[in-house]
Amino acid sequence: MKERNCLSAEEVEAQKVSVARMRDRNDRVYAETGARPQAFVLTLGCQQNEADSEKIAGLCEAMGYTITPTPDAADLIMVNTCAIREHAEQKALSLVGQYKHLKAKKPSLMIGVCGCMVVQEHRREELKHRYPYVDFVFGTSSLHRFPQLLCEKLEKGKRLFCPEESEYLVAEGLPIRRESNYRAWVSVMYGCNNFCSYCIVPYVRGRERSREMGEIVKEVAQLVREGYKDITLLGQNVNSYGKDLEGNGDFADLLYELDKLEGDFWLRFMTSHPKDASRKLIDVMASSRHIAHQFHLPMQSGSDAVLRAMNRRYDTAKYLEIVDYMREKMPDVTLTSDIIVGFPGETEEDFSDTLAMLERVKFDMLYSFIYSPRKGTPAAEMVQVEQKTKNERFDRLLALQNAIATEKNQPLVGQTLRVLCDGVSKNNAALYAGRTEGNKIAFFEGVPEDTGTFVEFVVERADAFALYGKKVSR
Ligand code: 5AD
Ligand code: SF4
Repeated sequence: MKERNCLSAEEVEAQKVSVARMRDRNDRVYAETGARPQAFVLTLGCQQNEADSEKIAGLCEAMGYTITPTPDAADLIMVNTCAIREHAEQKALSLVGQYKHLKAKKPSLMIGVCGCMVVQEHRREELKHRYPYVDFVFGTSSLHRFPQLLCEKLEKGKRLFCPEESEYLVAEGLPIRRESNYRAWVSVMYGCNNFCSYCIVPYVRGRERSREMGEIVKEVAQLVREGYKDITLLGQNVNSYGKDLEGNGDFADLLYELDKLEGDFWLRFMTSHPKDASRKLIDVMASSRHIAHQFHLPMQSGSDAVLRAMNRRYDTAKYLEIVDYMREKMPDVTLTSDIIVGFPGETEEDFSDTLAMLERVKFDMLYSFIYSPRKGTPAAEMVQVEQKTKNERFDRLLALQNAIATEKNQPLVGQTLRVLCDGVSKNNAALYAGRTEGNKIAFFEGVPEDTGTFVEFVVERADAFALYGKKVSR
C-alpha cells in the first residue's frame, strides 16, 4: 500500500496486536460466563459518522464483542459524536450523562466517546472534569487507535484522552460491520479544505485526503458481488476527490470506473460542493448505467452577499449554470440542497433572495438549518441575527419548500418507478417503505421478501414528503 497519505504498516500492525489481546481477554470472559461481552455503538450526525461507526462496530466484533442494539446490558458503550450544530453536541453530552447510572450498576462497563465533538479542546476538558465515568476519548484522526486505547484502559485502569494526530491519514483495511445488507456507505475521501466561515468540519476532520481509486473499486466490486443494491460514496466534499493524489484521476474518473462494474445496483454520492460540480462529472452521470440521477448540491443561501461572507466561492449565477446544465443533460434528475437561515448579517432582502432562488430552482427536497455559532469559526465572531428572526425565517422557508415539493411530485402520479424496498414502514406498520432512484420515499403494500429488493411501483398519490402507490411486480 502506498505511504503517501496512509497509515504506516507498523501502525496497522500495532493495532492488530491490540485487537488480538482484546480478543483473548473477551474469550476468557466467554469461557467463564458462557456469554460474549456486548458492545453498543451509538451514532450521532452525518453519514460519514455512520460509516465510521460501522468500522467501530467492525473492530468491536474483531475484539470478540457481540453488537447489541440497546445500551442496557452492554459491557462497552461507544458514543460517536457530531459537532455540526450546538444541538448535536448537547444531545451527545446528554446521552453520555444518561450512561452514568449504567456504570454505577456495572462498574466494569467501559464508556468511550469519539468523533467530531471531542476533537475540540473545550469539549475534551468538559468530559474530563464533568463526566469522570467516561473511560477513553479519541477524535476523528485516531479511530484506528480504538483497540489500543480500550486495551490500555482495561490493563492499566487510567483514563485516556488520546491526543489528535499531527496528520490526518487514511486507514485502509479496518473491519466493517455494515448495518444493512443491501445499502452501503463507502468513504472515498476524508476531511475538508474549504473553511466555509460557519462550519466546524475542517477543524474536526482535518485536510482532504482521498483513498486510492483501486482500493475503492475493489470495495465497491465486493459489495456488488455480495448483492448490495444501493451504494453511496461519501466525502465531506466528495467531488473534490482525487485532487490530493497525483495521477489518480478525479471524481468523474472514479465514477466512470465504478460504472463499468456489472450488476444491478444504484450508485450515489454525497456531499458535493458547487465549486467542483464540473460538466465532466454531470456528463459521466448522464451517460452512466448505475449512477442514480440524483444530486445533492448544497446552496446554503440565495444571496450573493451571504455566499461571499460564507466563503462559498460561487455565486447564484454559477449555481444556476450548474443546475441548468444538469437538467439539460438529465431532465429527470432529483435535486436536493442544504440551506442555512439566519447566517450572521443576513438581511430581510438576503433572505428574500434565498426564497426567490427556491422558486427558480425548485428543489425536490431541502435540508434547512438555523445557523448555529460554532466556537473557533469566523462566523461565530460576526454580528448575529436575532433568534426570533431566525425562527420566523425558518418557518417561511419550510412553508415555501413544502408547496414546491408538493408541486414537484405531482407529475410523478401515474408513473411506474423502481423502488428499493426497506421493509415495513417505521411510521405505518400497515405499509412497506422504500426509496426511488431519486431517493424519494415510497409507501406501498408489500411482503417481507420485498425487503432489500427492487420492486416496480406505480405512483397513485404524492405529497411534499413521499409517494404513495401500488407494487406492480417483484
Ligand atoms: N449552523 C447551521 N447549519 C450548519 N451547517 C454546517 N454548519 C452549520 C452551522 N454552524 C449545515 C450546512 C451543511 C450541513 C451539513 O449542515 O448546510 O451543508
Ligand atoms: Fe463544511 Fe463547507 Fe467543508 Fe461542507 S464544504 S464540510 S460546509 S467547510
